[in-house]
Amino acid sequence: MHIRFCWFRSNCNKCFSPQTDKIEPERRTWLIACGGAGAVAAAATAVPLLTSMAPSEKARSAGAPVEVDITDIPPGGVKTVEWRGKPVWVVRRTPEMLASLEKIEGQLADPKSDRTAYPVPEYAKNRHRSIKPEILVTVGICTHLGCSPVSKFETGNQPGLEANWQGGYFCPCHGSTFDHAGRVYANKPAPDNLEVPRHMYLSDTKIVIGKDEKGEA
Ligand code: FES
Repeated sequence: MHIRFCWFRSNCNKCFSPQTDKIEPERRTWLIACGGAGAVAAAATAVPLLTSMAPSEKARSAGAPVEVDITDIPPGGVKTVEWRGKPVWVVRRTPEMLASLEKIEGQLADPKSDRTAYPVPEYAKNRHRSIKPEILVTVGICTHLGCSPVSKFETGNQPGLEANWQGGYFCPCHGSTFDHAGRVYANKPAPDNLEVPRHMYLSDTKIVIGKDEKGEA
């Protein structure tokens, strides 16, 4: 399990170390450790927090849209893929995670995603910020100074998090917090919600990131 905080400092090796996927050598697999994440998946799955599969070097360098098979993401699980050099989280939210979105809306800075620094595609301009409620697609880079937030899916009171925490993401650099839809809490350093990139479903089990019905991002 490797921890990576700052997306832009990948060469320091203090918090990140890539691994090689033996099945598909051309792809890299990495893990981003997230404190307390496993709790969400309830007992059943001591789910790997974040399992990522990057596209080929060719696709990455070209900034091409990235196809993602979502069948292996368990409830409460997250798959991270690299798109245009950025980590994109694909999260399969549980009913409990979705239910939390309404409860904390009054504590958010931009609950309806009206701010325009990171315009939300029309199909994701809703409470769950996604096409299908259970599947969230969002860029895992803090909108303050670019650190990588970590998932804090365990609910309840915890140091550094809002009272009666309902789960979401925490940026360890300066303490910004985000809900399960990537919406930032008010009065935090991060000014905006996490970015939702253009994406679309190719089938019930496959999405593509970086492209939608209107074309490529
Ligand atoms: S970079 Fe996330 S709070 Fe500063």
